[in-house]
Amino acid sequence: MANRIPNEFIQELLSRVDIVNVVNGRVPLTQAGKDYKACCPFHNEKTPSFYVSPAKQFYHCFGCGESGTAIQFMMKYGNYRFLDAVEELAASAGIKVPREYSYSPEHGEYTQLLELIDKVSSEYQRQLYRSTRSNEAKQYLKNRGITFEAAQVFGLGYAPDAWDFVLKKFGKSEPERKLLEKAGLIIRKDDNKTFDRFRGRLMFPIEDRRGRVIAFGGRIIGEGEPKYLNSPETILFKKGNELFGIKKALQAIKKDEKVLVVEGYTDVVGLGQFGIENVVATLGTAVTSFHIKELFRTTKELVFCFDGDEAGFRAAWRAVGTILPMMEDGHLVSFVFLPDGQDPDSMVREEGSEAFRVRISEGEPITDFIFRVLLNRSNIERTDGRAKFAAEFGKIIEKLRHSMLREMMVAELSNRTGISESSIQSVLRPVKSETGVSKQTPGKATTYSLTGQFISILIQNPQWSKLAEDLEDVQILPDTNIWLLSEILKYLRRDPDLSTAGLVEKFRSSDYFGQVQLFASTRHNSSDEVLQCEFEGMVLKLRERVTAQKNKELLSQKQEYGEADLQDALQQLKDNYVLKKIAQEQRDII
Ligand code: UTP
Ligand code: MN
Repeated sequence: MANRIPNEFIQELLSRVDIVNVVNGRVPLTQAGKDYKACCPFHNEKTPSFYVSPAKQFYHCFGCGESGTAIQFMMKYGNYRFLDAVEELAASAGIKVPREYSYSPEHGEYTQLLELIDKVSSEYQRQLYRSTRSNEAKQYLKNRGITFEAAQVFGLGYAPDAWDFVLKKFGKSEPERKLLEKAGLIIRKDDNKTFDRFRGRLMFPIEDRRGRVIAFGGRIIGEGEPKYLNSPETILFKKGNELFGIKKALQAIKKDEKVLVVEGYTDVVGLGQFGIENVVATLGTAVTSFHIKELFRTTKELVFCFDGDEAGFRAAWRAVGTILPMMEDGHLVSFVFLPDGQDPDSMVREEGSEAFRVRISEGEPITDFIFRVLLNRSNIERTDGRAKFAAEFGKIIEKLRHSMLREMMVAELSNRTGISESSIQSVLRPVKSETGVSKQTPGKATTYSLTGQFISILIQNPQWSKLAEDLEDVQILPDTNIWLLSEILKYLRRDPDLSTAGLVEKFRSSDYFGQVQLFASTRHNSSDEVLQCEFEGMVLKLRERVTAQKNKELLSQKQEYGEADLQDALQQLKDNYVLKKIAQEQRDII
């Protein structure tokens, strides 16, 4: 994995770029008071509710709830991963990402590998179109009905049936061969002899989200084993992280507002040929949470296509376990099961694109599928069957953070079993959420606890941290977000000039990131002056609560020890605080 970019660099970057310019270059902004606004690029709207604040260096959409820093904007708008977003912003600001932190300690090598694979991919394509060696492959494409255009769009190529095709062209010296090996293009035997990995195969280039070729899948021409030979995992390529066709599908996914996930390379190519372009394929692995996360970053609706046989059914059930924990309110997931013996490629060729589109739009919602499986397994006509059903269902539903879906499923369960909703709720564990706080519904004001409100105002107005200087002991309060508050205060003590964006980015790799973004984008309706008064009032209240908490602890000590030992208890209490502090500091150092 890549080295973590040091936060100092992120802070430097954020102070050098202006989010207004970053956004304006992509989504034209108009001024609105101190802020700028536009129609939100992340959802469809006719009147602007997307605001960019130059003071906070933060954007927020009051329509859909999207918010974040310049980095977040690049990730979301440009579909960049974190490091790519940082590199892009750094480049635009004319500063260099410290080499040791970009991608991997071997940044130079990363780029070299990308360039090499790109050249090899072009060479494979040349072989397919320009050489008579590939006649068999061309005939194969023809027989399968894959058009020349579709082959070109997906960059299909041909690896000649030779042990040294790539070697001869790209591996004349030992350093070159080392690189080919690291790119997964040649294999080295124990006796140090090397040979091409892909021989006599139709080549499917696998691209990353930015459209850079990072690996290949090579299909045998006709029958034979293995049907597909794939690149091994390399520093560029981790199977479970990639989706075949993602770059080409992005636009169509945005347009159709959903993505279809299939299993095979040829399914993506075949559907593409029929004008169905919002399609990606996993790479011969079960769908991973990484895939789901990546797809939900792009759209709210996922449709999975499975074979209609037993294996397809099992694959779908496995996928449920991966998908459920990633679902949030607003997300839609459905499954399409094809008739036995068909895959999406053969299906669309048989019935045409219109019928196939209908099929996709009529998928089985994930909830229905879950009920279908569970009901299949237990006989709910009988009491013990109902209990078994409810127990299995409980296990499933506990994975759900998606509160609306959860309620819907509980209602449905109650319907089907006759057990009341409240008694179902009472045996379920509370909703797990990433942050311990449920998500804000866009458009609605969120009501936070005192601590929550305080954090939110503080993040948005870090210049007021001086007013909160004597809140050192807040961490003794039992509130949910108290750790977060004391972290924020600590950061601001160290660097009082931190901006909202700077603070938010401090938490990017912490579990609190989502919550911090939410706090940073909650709307406070008061004017600045009034808000500052409220803020000062909250400091007082928090201080009172700290004092009260200390007294409470004292009191319980007093009861434990009796009046006579109070002096001792007091001393002990002091020691405890000192110990706590030391422990905290040690944790910080680690
Ligand atoms: P399929 O066998 O469904 O592939 O396997 P396909 O793309 O439909 O192949 P055709 O139509 O027979 O040409 C689904 C996916 O599983 C992976 C590949 O990613 C393939 O696209 N796979 C399959 C392998 O990696 N190796 C194999 O030997 C078989
Ligand atoms: Mn197939």
